[in-house]
Amino acid sequence: MNTKYRKTVIAGNWKMNMTASEVRPFVEELKAAMPKLKGCETVLCVPAVNIPAMLRWGKDAKIACGAEDVSAFAKGAYTGEIAANMLADLGVKYCIVGHSERREYHKESDMLVNAKARALLDNGISPIICVGESLEQREMELTMAHINYQVRAALHGVDASELRRCVIAYEPIWAIGTGKTATAEQAEEVCREIRSIIREIYGARPARSVSILYGGSMNAKNAAELLAMPDIDGGLIGGASLKPADFATIIAAAGAENE
Ligand code: 13P
Repeated sequence: MNTKYRKTVIAGNWKMNMTASEVRPFVEELKAAMPKLKGCETVLCVPAVNIPAMLRWGKDAKIACGAEDVSAFAKGAYTGEIAANMLADLGVKYCIVGHSERREYHKESDMLVNAKARALLDNGISPIICVGESLEQREMELTMAHINYQVRAALHGVDASELRRCVIAYEPIWAIGTGKTATAEQAEEVCREIRSIIREIYGARPARSVSILYGGSMNAKNAAELLAMPDIDGGLIGGASLKPADFATIIAAAGAENE
C-alpha cells in the first residue's frame, strides 16, 4: 500500500450469503472486533435485499454499503433488474462490476461491464471493477494481455475525473474460493501492471491515486503480507468477509499498514 497517494479499501463481497435479519448481529459483532479506523475505507457489498439493513446498521460502525450488481440500463422494462439511480437513492456508495462469477454464470461481456461502470459513475456510485485471468490463461502466459484488455475495455469512455471514483480489483479466477491465494509477488506483479496500464491511458497522477485491490482467498492469515505490497491498496474479500472476527483482522492489518 502507498497511503500517501491513495485510499486503502477493505471491501467484503458477501455474494449470495446472509439474510437481511442476519445483518444487524453481524455488524455488531464486527464493530466490537474491528479497530478504530484510520485512513481505511471499509465496505460491505451485500445482496440487494440486504442493502437497507446494511445502510442502517453499518452507519454507526463506519461501514460503507456496496451492491454486488447493477443494471446497465437507466430504467424501463428489465424485469428483476436494479438501476444505478435506485442504489444511489438508498445511499449505496460502491458496486461491484465485472466479477468473474457474473462474467461466467451470467455471460457478462466486457462491453456490458463498461456500460454498468458508466451507469454507476453517472449516478455518483464508485464501481469496483474486477479483472482477472483464468488458470489456463496464466499457464499460457496470457495474464498480462488479458488484464490489459479487461482494464481498457472496462474504462472505455471514463475520463480522468471519473477514474478517481473507480476502484480496480485484481481477482485471479483460480484464487477465488479455492483457498489458493496468489503469492504476494504474483498479486503485486499484476497490480503494478494495472497501474501502468492506467498510467498509459490517464498519465502519472491518476495512476498514482487509483486504489487497486487484490481479491482471491484473502484471509486473516495472509492479508498483512499482501497489503504490504506497494501496489496493493486493499482487498476484495469473499469467504472471510462472512466471519466478523476474520474480517476485523483483515481491517486491522490494513490499519496497521496505515499507521
Ligand atoms: P474468496 O475471498 O472467497 O476467495 O472470494 C474472493 C472474491 O471473489 C471476492 O469478490
